[in-house]
Amino acid sequence: MSLRNDLSAFWLPFTPNRDFKRQPRILTRAEGMYFYDGAGRALLDTCSGLWCVNAGHGRAPIVEAIRKAAGELDFAPTFQFAHPSAFALAERVAALAPAGMEHVFFVNSGSEAADTALKIARAYALKCGQGGRFRLIGRERGYHGTMFGGISVGGIANNRKPYGPLVPGTDDHLPLPYDKAAMAFTKGQPGGGASYADALEGLVALHGAETIAAVIVEPFAGSAGVFAPPRDYLGRLRALCDRHGIVLIFDEVITGFGRVGHAFAAERYGVTPDIITFAKGVNNGSVPLGGVIVANKIHDAFMTGPEHAIELFHGNTYSGHPLACAAGLATLDLYRDEGLFERALQTERVLEAAVHALKGAPFVADIRNCGMAAGIDIEPDPKAPGRRGYEAIRRAFHDQDMVIRVGGDTIALAPALIATEDEIARMVDGVRAVLTRLT
Ligand SMILES: Cc1ncc(COP(=O)(O)O)c(C=O)c1O
Repeated sequence: MSLRNDLSAFWLPFTPNRDFKRQPRILTRAEGMYFYDGAGRALLDTCSGLWCVNAGHGRAPIVEAIRKAAGELDFAPTFQFAHPSAFALAERVAALAPAGMEHVFFVNSGSEAADTALKIARAYALKCGQGGRFRLIGRERGYHGTMFGGISVGGIANNRKPYGPLVPGTDDHLPLPYDKAAMAFTKGQPGGGASYADALEGLVALHGAETIAAVIVEPFAGSAGVFAPPRDYLGRLRALCDRHGIVLIFDEVITGFGRVGHAFAAERYGVTPDIITFAKGVNNGSVPLGGVIVANKIHDAFMTGPEHAIELFHGNTYSGHPLACAAGLATLDLYRDEGLFERALQTERVLEAAVHALKGAPFVADIRNCGMAAGIDIEPDPKAPGRRGYEAIRRAFHDQDMVIRVGGDTIALAPALIATEDEIARMVDGVRAVLTRLT
């Protein structure tokens, strides 16, 4: 049954709409670590908006840059034309990426970035005369946005099941490198983990490497509930992709721009992929923007043929939108000037200690952390999985003045990189109070 009132027209994404519209949670303003509702009540933001507002809300230099850009150049096409801030931002993003990754293609979201990376990987195989490489291998519980490519390589069942048949060549998924019996309540990265990457050898044996274009993983699984990569995992995946000529894609939509104390997880873990996707933190979540950074060898493979000819038939009206790029430039200045990535590297220890103190609180089944992110699994109600998670959102908002992010029955905390020790303590105290009242 749908509820008709003045909230009925807007169909909210990833939301139980009917329940929400009976008791809505409306945010009208934001500043620093806080959202505010219409009555002026401050609500602590525990997940950087949606993992994107890494420098905190309402930062003046970003707001000013957007204002200025809107007055100067509201729009310019980047098909056959361009504008200065798209070049400037691409250069700044490439400068933050691992060596040898110097080219940036802009889109508008993380979902588009994932699909762009997958398309480039297939087209690259073709450019290399290996058109038989069509398979795209993702990971169980992986999240790469909501477009057909992303949900196909993604491994979150509810995001896939209603939409089949999915993209051909995407049926195989590597396992999530997690074993609850061995890893529950691990602080930071579990040890080992190479065997999870070795599952790729099984797929190579099954299908032949000559049919596999790319493997895509999140360096740490974010939306599935914050699963840190075991220490030997990403390096082994890199070695296997090298051995078999497979493009390795890191989806850094969450892990990019400071979430793990570096510009990219590739740098933190010392593993360089062939393609990095990004979005969210690139401009502090202020204007939709995403993109992919590609290794020079991939970019250069496209720069062949007649010079009047388009090299990649792909792009969006808003690829490299002037407002988004201006916001990106101001954001990267802010991250640099305030040393926010370095700060995150220090603060992650505070978050780790605080969140693991929740062990033993009601319903807590596991606690994981990675960089400035933590996942707290709540034991699901056997009769209604997801009910306790949703209840936690409501209780946090109404009783604890907090906006929390929940996926299924897992609470994810991902504070902005400006968070203080006190604010992290308040988040954890609030979660504890919520857990205590769950039924
Ligand atoms: C790893 C990853 N990839 C892609 C996406 C999709 O990004 P967007 O919601 O901007 O389309 C997300 C969103 O959370 C993400 O976490």
